[in-house]
Amino acid sequence: MSRALLPPAAERPQNPARRRAFFAATDLALVAAAAPSLPAVAQPAAPPPLRVVHGFADHLSINLWLQGTRADALEVDVRVGENTTAKPVTTVPVELNARTDFTETIAVAGLEPGERYNYTVRSTKTKSVLARGTFKTQVLWQWRTDPPTVRIATGSCAYLNDFKYDRPGKPYGGGEEIFDSIANLSPDLMLWLGDNIYTREADYTSREGINRRYRFYRSHPTLQKLWTATPHVAIWDDHDFGPDNSDFSYNGAGWSHEMFLRYWPMPYSPPADGLYGKILQGDVDIFMLDDRTWRYPEKWPDAAADKAMYGAKQMTWLKAALTFSKAPFKIVAGGSQFFNRVSTAECWAHYAAEQQDFLRFLEERKIPGVLFLSGDRHFSQHLRVQRTGLYPLNEITTSPLTSGLSRIADVERTNPESMPGSILSERNFALITVTGPRTQRALTIELRDGRGEKKWEWSTTAAELAEGTKA
Ligand SMILES: [Fe+2]
Repeated sequence: MSRALLPPAAERPQNPARRRAFFAATDLALVAAAAPSLPAVAQPAAPPPLRVVHGFADHLSINLWLQGTRADALEVDVRVGENTTAKPVTTVPVELNARTDFTETIAVAGLEPGERYNYTVRSTKTKSVLARGTFKTQVLWQWRTDPPTVRIATGSCAYLNDFKYDRPGKPYGGGEEIFDSIANLSPDLMLWLGDNIYTREADYTSREGINRRYRFYRSHPTLQKLWTATPHVAIWDDHDFGPDNSDFSYNGAGWSHEMFLRYWPMPYSPPADGLYGKILQGDVDIFMLDDRTWRYPEKWPDAAADKAMYGAKQMTWLKAALTFSKAPFKIVAGGSQFFNRVSTAECWAHYAAEQQDFLRFLEERKIPGVLFLSGDRHFSQHLRVQRTGLYPLNEITTSPLTSGLSRIADVERTNPESMPGSILSERNFALITVTGPRTQRALTIELRDGRGEKKWEWSTTAAELAEGTKA
């Protein structure tokens, strides 16, 4: 979803000149509302010629993603601790070539659990150091100790202005200091919940256009600190996949799939035709869903039995993976909202057969610890679905990072399943913290504004999310 929810069409000016003025005024109001008194942000330095993104780290390895500006042969030296002159524990060669727009993902393996490392990236020709950074591997706590504290940052809808290709008028994006606010927290993981990039009309009609949009994001000065401050994982939503509210009828999906794999180092082995899988951070299982590859059009009749958002194969996998999981918290992450019954925007509620089948499954299997993360809506909220004899299902929607805000309809504010005081209408991200002994884990989700200041929080425990499941 983008630039929504504008007022109903009947309220909008029909004259083109008046429409332009209206959109400009609306966008101005959105931007002003999003950042009412933020100080001017100093213009960051230009991006480095070599960009590095930290991918997922497990116990013994990490993925590092690199993009240069020309064909090059590089070497990545990895050392224990902070000493940048110590003998490397491993050196990984990297070839950058034009075929992949000078990108490469490398797996740095043979590391030790729970260790901090530093790396330098050198040109083999000039020996000059092109990038430096530090990362840590996950602690091998299983069968040994209590799990570590886990801190996961998450957010959706990251619009970066690109005036040459944007809709004319006032900028839709802003507040990019939020990326540094996330970086300053040094979370264990950053989970991108979709609309991580916004492909424009000039982008999604070609493979090259989608690549160009990804390159724009990767080289944007405001993101450089975040890319190497924490490991990054991502799911996608419509604007990563294709046009606004796109579905499986978009016939550029092969391009967007290829570019997602090119630009996001994958933390799991994806199926050939989609982008879903599970990762483990500490003792938190995160189920990362693909809400676009198999998605029927939103306007398909809601009552149609075949209308699906995730598709039968993915749903079977999700049910099996949740059944298999022993994690105290099982976070299911999707781009679209799962349980908003009153939304007129995209929502799983409009795919009733698939949604209800999944809810029946959760009830019948009495799976503990399940909670949901979503984005896309250009406001944030906490939804709670009550169930008979079982703990309620909780969904946290966090949006937007840097795009504009939606006008929130009255029916959304009075939705009995929207927790009172949870609607947040400003640019924000969420910080999830899981703490405590192995058998008494507790989870807190905070919504934080562009400065990183807490605006809302909700806490629960593994015990609460197990109520009714042991009967
Ligand atoms: Fe979206």
